Amino acid sequence: MIDKIIRFRRVASTQDTAKRFVQEGHELAVTSLSQQRGRGRQGRTWYSPHGGLYVSLLLFPKERLTSIPLLASLSVIRTLEGLGFSKLVIHWPNDVLLDSRKVCGVVCERYQNAMICGIGLNVNIDRFGQRAVNATSLSVEAGREFDIDEVLNQLLVQFNSLYEELQERGLKVKEVLNYISGLGEAVEVLTKKGKISGTVYDIDDDWALLLRDENGMIRKLYYGDVRRLEW
Ligand code: BTN
Repeated sequence: MIDKIIRFRRVASTQDTAKRFVQEGHELAVTSLSQQRGRGRQGRTWYSPHGGLYVSLLLFPKERLTSIPLLASLSVIRTLEGLGFSKLVIHWPNDVLLDSRKVCGVVCERYQNAMICGIGLNVNIDRFGQRAVNATSLSVEAGREFDIDEVLNQLLVQFNSLYEELQERGLKVKEVLNYISGLGEAVEVLTKKGKISGTVYDIDDDWALLLRDENGMIRKLYYGDVRRLEW
């Protein structure tokens, strides 16, 4: 459970700053007002000016590691619903879309005996230009600014409650199915081992994506970039 927040004004990446606290063996959050080298999944950069929420959760989960990215996305969804937003979707495994545009990204990395789960949420960012195509923010969508600290507090409340449930009983997948985009759709998933095409069949109990491939085989994927195929 996260019960401590360590705050910075500017860091290269909260993912790296969080590593400094691994030896303490305590679950905590590292946040910064901006990042100079915010990073996303698959070597991408994460646009990190003032106005965004950048947080890395340093976790020592006992089991069910693979569920953490979706757990983070679901915490974001619950937080944004609490702020009055709707039209929220999880683009498996870890993007949160608001009205079809990306408002949040999650990247999880293992480091020693820890898992560092980084969440970037576009809160009060008014312009993205070419730096983040198809991105949006809470302020753009709502036409007003939000208190970033308050959003972070809500996010941690939601995360802690889901995290506790996950560790004790395993999470019920049902809620997340309400938000997953692409069920039943033809997609192409780019993994480290190559591309897999198929139809999204289901989300498994450990929150892996189940895909029916061209040969009718069910493939289980824990990570990858999902792209919808237009036939
Ligand atoms: C993605 O969509 O590719 C994931 C983006 C994750 C960005 C967050 S911001 C806080 C943490 N620090 C980083 O450098 N990255 C993550």
